[in-house]
Amino acid sequence: MSEETIVNSPAGPSVLTDVFARRLNYLRVSITDRCNLRCVYCTPQFDAIKLDHEEILSYEEILRIIRIAASLGVEKVRITGGEPLVRRGVIDFLKRLVPMEGIRDVSLTTNGVLLRDRIDALWETGIRRINVSLDTLRPDRFRSITGMDAFERVWAGIRAANEKGFHPIKINVVALQGINEDELVDLARLSFRYPFHIRFIEYMPIGECTKVRGAGLLTPDIQKLLIDAVGPLIPVDPAAFDGPAKRFRFEGAMGEIGFISAMSEHFCNRCNRLRLTARGAIRPCLLSDREIELKSLLRGGAADEAIAERLKEAALQKGAEHHLGLSGDCIQGRMFAIGG
Ligand code: 5AD
Ligand code: SF4
Repeated sequence: MSEETIVNSPAGPSVLTDVFARRLNYLRVSITDRCNLRCVYCTPQFDAIKLDHEEILSYEEILRIIRIAASLGVEKVRITGGEPLVRRGVIDFLKRLVPMEGIRDVSLTTNGVLLRDRIDALWETGIRRINVSLDTLRPDRFRSITGMDAFERVWAGIRAANEKGFHPIKINVVALQGINEDELVDLARLSFRYPFHIRFIEYMPIGECTKVRGAGLLTPDIQKLLIDAVGPLIPVDPAAFDGPAKRFRFEGAMGEIGFISAMSEHFCNRCNRLRLTARGAIRPCLLSDREIELKSLLRGGAADEAIAERLKEAALQKGAEHHLGLSGDCIQGRMFAIGG
């Protein structure tokens, strides 16, 4: 393939599209499978084998893939893990990524444990949008959900991010029966005091089935809880770069409420993303085990064109929709290696 067919306008023939003509302009990149927490819904019951350092893509390799993806029309990148802030050199990596040609939006998903300490450095990278996982406002419960007594640190990190000017700050809440069901209203009420977007995520059975399999609450139930306790949820118009979240707000609130309903409402037809795993494979769909290997190409000296071709093949392997039923199987991938 000639150079021009790779580096041409996003409307041209070489943009990443799948067989259903979904344009894939969003790449989620897991930079590490390591995490300093052990969330009950993410961590497999039996401890996973951690990847060797050489198995993980170097920052140089990741930046190269993103540059090639950008030439194919990817404009938006989210950095995830594991916990991205535990990987050494992440700040310098982000400083190189944010100004990359073609990339209009870089955001970060973190568990917040290291956020307060890194907040100034993170601001200097140019990143403005962050997602922080927070399933409870009770320190004791935070410990039982995540395995670490770190609620205060995370909360201080979220407030520091707010004071610094990060916006929007999205708070990810995995809603689980018998675990944090009784706090969903309190978490939603944070949107009155802070400009946060509180997003309720349906539990997905990923990662060899975790301990909480079967405890997932579905969006309609969560919405009912919130409406009964707080009041009507007013729809917010979707914006250009919106992901799969359905957005709402309460009357008079500064922030928003969102729902990510991967189980109760398949949003596959609106999905615009590909994932790059920490060990260098493209995962066309979070909820399918199918992966397309890139690392051996990269390390085998392949030209950019060959990598671009592989990315396009990966896009074409994106299925029409996932088949994970509500009480269905677990898929084998591990959330902390795929990046959520
Ligand atoms: N189901 C739903 N959400 C999950 N997350 C991690 N594991 C699961 C799961 N099994 C969420 C975390 C994090 C985001 C990246 O994914 O809360 O905020
Ligand atoms: Fe929790 Fe995220 Fe770490 Fe998984 S990767 S254990 S969800 S903080």
